[in-house]
Amino acid sequence: MPGIKLTLPKDRELFAFVFARFIDGELTGIAEGQAMQYAPDLRAADFLARQIRDEIRHARLYKNLYAYVSPGSPAPEQSWLLRQITNPVSGRLWVEHCFLDKAVGERWVHYLMQMLIGHTQDTRIVKTLQAIARDEVTHIAFGETQVRARIAHSRFMATYLWGLYLRVDYALAAAYRLTRSVVSRRYSAEGAALLDQFFTEYRDKGLREVAQLLGVKPRRSVGRMLFSQLIYLVRWPFAGWWQNPVRAFRAS
Ligand SMILES: [Fe+2]
Ligand SMILES: [Fe+2]
Repeated sequence: MPGIKLTLPKDRELFAFVFARFIDGELTGIAEGQAMQYAPDLRAADFLARQIRDEIRHARLYKNLYAYVSPGSPAPEQSWLLRQITNPVSGRLWVEHCFLDKAVGERWVHYLMQMLIGHTQDTRIVKTLQAIARDEVTHIAFGETQVRARIAHSRFMATYLWGLYLRVDYALAAAYRLTRSVVSRRYSAEGAALLDQFFTEYRDKGLREVAQLLGVKPRRSVGRMLFSQLIYLVRWPFAGWWQNPVRAFRAS
């Protein structure tokens, strides 16, 4: 859909909704502090420390964008239901965190940013999104490198992570179903068309790219998803507690 353009003031409400959700997403970046406790080494902990500063800076930039498109009103918080559906579980194992939070979660945010950059006619919004997207690419790349290193010798881990990804994939389909009628009522025809594109074309693109990262077939399977969720929940209390960057640093 090359001809579609989002503009102000026509798409003020859609921009406000997206930037408010981006603020929520960036603030969850503070949770990276928890992941730092079980990073495998100090280099990884150092990356997380830089990433937290990036995310805090991004939250401020999005707050400014929100005030630009919707002056005088504070950004509303996300509804509880939408938060349950769209927030991936961040994981306790290092590989789960790198996969769910960075290789998957940030990938999805980056898709949405790319779509907005390509279809927005407003220099301030586009330039801010481009600057933030450059940081997000480095976060995704770090997550992918960590995942590749840890699945290199474990087919089980690759298929387990694929099942975790399918939870995100199905959650996106559910979010689409829940929001589609609201979107077509509340936003412009261009905005509704772009959100359709996001939840269909980008959902398939994500499926292909994540399958390629893990070296598995891009096939949806409810059984695979449930199996991975079961393993995830059963081992949740026991996973990852022995690993921390301080111990690795002293042992090296
Ligand atoms: Fe960010
Ligand atoms: Fe990020």
